[in-house]
Amino acid sequence: MVPKNLAVFASGRGSNFQAISEKISSGLIPAKVKLCITNNPAAGVIELARQLKIAVKIINPKDFPDTDSFNDAILKELQDWNIDFIILAGYLKLIGRQIVERYANRIINIHPALLPAFGGKGMYGHHVHQAVFDSGAKISGVTVHLVNTEYDAGPIVLQRCVDISELKSPEEIAARVLKIEHEIFPEAVKYLVEGRLVLKGKRVDVIEK
Ligand code: GRF
Repeated sequence: MVPKNLAVFASGRGSNFQAISEKISSGLIPAKVKLCITNNPAAGVIELARQLKIAVKIINPKDFPDTDSFNDAILKELQDWNIDFIILAGYLKLIGRQIVERYANRIINIHPALLPAFGGKGMYGHHVHQAVFDSGAKISGVTVHLVNTEYDAGPIVLQRCVDISELKSPEEIAARVLKIEHEIFPEAVKYLVEGRLVLKGKRVDVIEK
């Protein structure tokens, strides 16, 4: 199979990006990360991408008059780099309609909770784990889903839950969930690039090899 070209979008430290890059290097995922796009000039992922010798583009919404031109600039980069799939690895901006339409069912996102619970606008990073902790839930987990024009609302590809009944803080929940993120996100990216996802309405089936 010809390796697919991936763009990784990230706004933070990039540990999921690193986990995916490691699985690509090990041969698990037939793809190559050609480009990292971040909206955040201070993101830790910039240095990580440099260490991995992956091109980085800082596309800062503050440099654009409106959201549409910001997303148009991202779409142009994707086309210039001949990108096949987009991986959202801790990216905090909503993906513009023009990108979702051009990359229909070829954009995947990871969320550190069991969607549809604890998701949506404003539910990212620590906010998610604080809400889960405050709810008294005994389990949390990870969701990987295809991306549409709403936050955390696309068809679910993979989920895995974790027991948090003994954990004493949102930070402990975050750490336990992050370990699972690094396991299931590369798995979901593999299915995506290998064309093994079958959509039936909002349900996603994975074609076994
Ligand atoms: C992860 O918790 C992920 O679930 C969420 O943002 C965080 C990104 O962490 N979307 P990292 O930058 O991959 O370490």
